[in-house]
Amino acid sequence: MRINLALIVSIIVAVGIVAFAFTAIQSSSERQKLNNELQANTVRLAEDFYKSHFKHLEKGDSLTSKEITDSVISQYNFVGMAVYYNRDSVIPLNDSTRPLLEHSSDFIARTISADSSMGNMIKVSGKKFYEYIRVIKRQDKPSIAAIFYADAGYIRNIINSIWLGNFFRWFLQALIISVVTLLIIRWGILAPINKVVEWIKAARFGNVEQFEKGPPISFLRPLYKEISGIAQAMQEAKAIAQEEARLRTTAEAIWTPERLNEEMKQVLEDKMMVVVSNREPYMHVRAGKEIKCIVPASGMVTAMEPILKACGGLWIASGSGDADRETVDKNDKVQVPPYENKYTLRRVWLTKEQEDHYYYGFANEGLWPLCHIAHTRPVFRIEDWEYYQQVNQMYADAVLEEIKNQEDPFILVQDYHFALLPKLIKEQRPDAKVAIFWHIPWPNPESFGICPWQRELLSGMLGADLIGFHTQYHCNNFLETVNNTLESRVIWENFSVKIGNQFTLVKPFPISIAFTLKDYDSGSETRERGTDVLKQYGLNADYLGIGVDRIDYTKGLIEKFLAIERFLEKNPFYQGQFTFVQIGAPSRSLLKTYADTISAVEHEANRINWKFKSKNWQPILFLKRHHSHEEILPFYKAANLCMVTSLHDGMNLVAKEFIASRNQNDGVLILSQFAGASQELLGAMIINPYDIEQTADAIKTALEMPKELQYHKMKQMRRVIMGHNVYSWAAAILRTMASIQN
Ligand code: G6P
Repeated sequence: MRINLALIVSIIVAVGIVAFAFTAIQSSSERQKLNNELQANTVRLAEDFYKSHFKHLEKGDSLTSKEITDSVISQYNFVGMAVYYNRDSVIPLNDSTRPLLEHSSDFIARTISADSSMGNMIKVSGKKFYEYIRVIKRQDKPSIAAIFYADAGYIRNIINSIWLGNFFRWFLQALIISVVTLLIIRWGILAPINKVVEWIKAARFGNVEQFEKGPPISFLRPLYKEISGIAQAMQEAKAIAQEEARLRTTAEAIWTPERLNEEMKQVLEDKMMVVVSNREPYMHVRAGKEIKCIVPASGMVTAMEPILKACGGLWIASGSGDADRETVDKNDKVQVPPYENKYTLRRVWLTKEQEDHYYYGFANEGLWPLCHIAHTRPVFRIEDWEYYQQVNQMYADAVLEEIKNQEDPFILVQDYHFALLPKLIKEQRPDAKVAIFWHIPWPNPESFGICPWQRELLSGMLGADLIGFHTQYHCNNFLETVNNTLESRVIWENFSVKIGNQFTLVKPFPISIAFTLKDYDSGSETRERGTDVLKQYGLNADYLGIGVDRIDYTKGLIEKFLAIERFLEKNPFYQGQFTFVQIGAPSRSLLKTYADTISAVEHEANRINWKFKSKNWQPILFLKRHHSHEEILPFYKAANLCMVTSLHDGMNLVAKEFIASRNQNDGVLILSQFAGASQELLGAMIINPYDIEQTADAIKTALEMPKELQYHKMKQMRRVIMGHNVYSWAAAILRTMASIQN
């Protein structure tokens, strides 16, 4: 405000000085001009007058003043007139002349003695007049003079009006210039400055979205690069400082294998821990003459293996590798991981019929589609159910045999293959602490209600002390299903169920991966490049997408490919530039639905490739075989984006593994809203995989996402995974189990 006032006063003064100087010059020259005009006119009129009325005086005639009346004088625009003979004889020709003559006598005398007519400006009673002395030479007599007085007062009036006019002009100019200046300051300077201040503030406070819009004013664009560099450096320095401080304080709180090991010692107090699952963590398979040990594609294995590796224990699972029997001891046990021997794997042998009906039939044609809302109809057959009960009993026997000399053992049952197991164990060994973790979703009660053996399944599960799901939503669905189906008391206050004397806690435990501070910090190795990983396939692309899934109808693979096709249609620029690598591990392929899914996915990839492909480039690279984690890692690291498009998924650990691999905090995760992981990974681009347009647009947004935003989101997700890794997951489950009194 003070600046505005000072500016306006300065403008007024500056304009005033300029106006004053111009007016002074103008009035002086005008005055000069008017004076000259007045003199010239007066001389001209005086000479005219002289010729007609005073000529005879030259001859020595005397003046006949009667001829010269007031009207004759004013006709010539004179205010007065006189004839001068000498100091004592001056004849005024009208009354107005008398006072004027008093001021003229000296000048008249001088003019006569100079013998040359002259004019002069005089001031009488504050008024100005011009006097013209016309010398009249007479024969043999002294010269006399005729005196003419003209009014010069009008010159002053004209000059005054020039000053007045110029004053008003100056005032108006000053006013307009002040107002315009104020407006320019307000809209042209202050408003843009305020915007710039907001913009720089956004940069300073890390409001990336606002900052990235760029400068609000075009002439500031050159500044943008400079300031964004400074802001980015500031943000990074700030983030690093915060991160260091945070890590210093939280390093203690982050779960590591060692910490879990210590925790287990305290919680278990030398009690035995047994993990039971259908899928084994290591399969021995024949490769020519050699035997290879592979880790099967299974989210459950990815999560559970690091826990056993950290803490030891016994894992009971079905032997499914064609060289499994050759690698176990006489008790069907083998130490794993190979050459590390951290825990014991006991293999259970299923007959072909058992595998057909229990695994393929009841578990994967019945329960799997029942729990996943992916619009594949569940099939329930009585013989499958019978085998399911039989295999559950077989596993119960194996567990009971293993724990027969153990007091209060901890049994961790994995997944939908063993819904009946908790009850079977608990009936025999009430002292055992039994938990079952359901790795897949739990549907609403109506959906689950179509299972003819839902009561048996529920009461089998409710034999456990603890039932875990990935999300609270699945817990609620389960409790509602129990409420609708069984004679039981569901206690909603603490999410538990009581049937007779059996009490079961139902709690969410979002599962995770083995990701610790060490992995988080494993900084800046050089970045894998999309072109490098594609080279071995004879392909070339600047942008790379990655997807890693078991080939399963719940994974939304067709939807993913349709979205890629739509993306390329909508953005032809990326044709020839973007390749999506889909690693697909064939799974359960003896089932028709799975075999059909494999061919449908393959067909779709071929169709889309045929539509767009060019020399050395194709949109989709479908790698249909099991890949080890080491083989997948370069793709994760080189990709610009990862797509998880599950139509329904308990958690999805691929999403977390992709994030874990991004140790340079870049890359974008596109994640289905129907995967449990979407509840935790808020930095992902959440999509509905059924919405092809939305997913296609998400690919474009991901590829064009500014690096700073990628950094911000990826870092945030990496912190989430570090804070909630699989060690903290295991610790939470074991602590909860230990806290339940039998
Ligand atoms: C899901 C299940 C796991 C299963 C995995 C692979 O992640 O939750 O229990 O192991 O799929 O399926 P598979 O039938 O090959 O074991």
